[in-house]
Amino acid sequence: MHIIPTIIAALAGFAAVSASPFRRTTGTVEGDIATIQSDVISLDSKIKSFSGSLLDALSFLTAYESLSSAITTTTADINASTAFSSSESAVLADQIGGLTNDIIVTLGDAVAKVFFESYVLLRCG
Ligand SMILES: *[C@@H]1O[C@H](CO)[C@@H](O)[C@H](O)[C@H]1NC(C)=O
Repeated sequence: MHIIPTIIAALAGFAAVSASPFRRTTGTVEGDIATIQSDVISLDSKIKSFSGSLLDALSFLTAYESLSSAITTTTADINASTAFSSSESAVLADQIGGLTNDIIVTLGDAVAKVFFESYVLLRCG
């Protein structure tokens, strides 16, 4: 299952980017981050319930595409935003803190799933 390492790389990459200081923001960006957070939670649920079936794979890929698209939208909106105030910055920092926690949980679940699948492969061939 190569998709799980891809997701781990994408989430880890976003976590690294979001850990850097913000240059700009708008209310739009707050909405974008809320969308990413809800997509991460949805992806986490797909990872946890993934059974290896085609139906699960499609549902998982749909959740991944949605998250990927939300990250692209957020990046574009941040790029297009004007300078942000310190109060906007504080709101975003709180939001990013919550998102980071969700990403860490999702990464943990993805890694656990990879280990579980590897264990099953080793034991059952
Ligand atoms: C945002 O800006 C960076 C730096 O200029 C650029 O590399 C990136 O492609 C831009 N991303 C989007 C989605 O506009």
